[in-house]
Amino acid sequence: MAETKTRKRVLSGMRSTGKLHLGNYVGALANWVGMQDQYECFFMVADWHALTTDYADTSRIKENSLEVALDWLAAGLDPQKSVIFIQSHVPAHAELHLLFSMITPLGWLERVPTYKEQRENIKDKDLGTYGFLGYPVLQAADILVYKADFVPVGEDQVAHVELTREVARRFNGFYGTKKEVFPEPQSLLTPAPRLPGTDGRKMSKSYGNAILLTDPEPVVRQKLKTMVTDPARVKRSDKGDPDKCPVGDLHKIFSTKETMAKVYEGCRSAGIGCIECKSWVADALVKLLNPMQERRRKFEENPRLAWDILEAGSEQARAVAAETMSDVRAAMGMSLEFEASTK
Ligand code: TRP
Ligand code: SF4
Repeated sequence: MAETKTRKRVLSGMRSTGKLHLGNYVGALANWVGMQDQYECFFMVADWHALTTDYADTSRIKENSLEVALDWLAAGLDPQKSVIFIQSHVPAHAELHLLFSMITPLGWLERVPTYKEQRENIKDKDLGTYGFLGYPVLQAADILVYKADFVPVGEDQVAHVELTREVARRFNGFYGTKKEVFPEPQSLLTPAPRLPGTDGRKMSKSYGNAILLTDPEPVVRQKLKTMVTDPARVKRSDKGDPDKCPVGDLHKIFSTKETMAKVYEGCRSAGIGCIECKSWVADALVKLLNPMQERRRKFEENPRLAWDILEAGSEQARAVAAETMSDVRAAMGMSLEFEASTK
């Protein structure tokens, strides 16, 4: 384990929203899997973050955390290489969140773009809560409690990492007089291609247009059959353009060069039909998903195995977080040890 010290540390997380879809894979998970050899990685199921919006009904939250973890393991996150854990099993995140909440100006939080957007767009839940406003403060605690160097995230999360840097700077400014407690983490932007769902909008569980990593072959094929295509191709004899077609977008991400060439040629000349073209995407997806679903089976048959991995990971995470918290308390003059000089 000595060599882990020399590797830069990565932390990332996903909210526990249940089964993951292809967008989660392409936008984050595939990237995480590839980072495991290069970095010391911490991957967290953010169940407290799920509560910021879904606080009213917690009946599925634990199940959802486990589902996320199953998809991670299926996709190739490896507990031998990475620390895989559940946020709420590491109470230090909450303690650090509280301390950060003392020093974070309200204006910083009100200015976060995701905050403004979600307040405007989500009308079926009351997001006028203390916890929802504090979402990025909790995220800062998630990152800084491990003194992470890098945070792989999508575009929408960059502002949260920026806020994390500001919180670190402010903390160091107030309390890091002897030495800086927190390094300033950097985002590692995941280059995510646009991944359309079956209706052509961005793939998202809430739109009901997603292909899940757990979808069996017949479901994948069925979902593709209903997928929208280039609107210019109404009849089989109409020529189309893969650059104007959501199915074309999927080909660009998942198909080989050879298939791509056939798609461009056949679509633009009306030499192929959309049904055939879609079946080629389905082939590529099934080929990608099959080994994941195979790996998932072992954990589905015995979910205890996955839970054990999460518990062991959470224990490792707690040990690292505890060290940071003792630095934090010392820097703030609030260490737990008795000091004779204390008045
Ligand atoms: N906010 C992230 C999202 O919605 C999830 C998350 C929680 C996270 N804590 C994190 C990501 C810490 C990176 C680092 O996807
Ligand atoms: Fe889209 Fe393929 Fe049909 Fe062209 S042939 S419109 S790329 S589905």
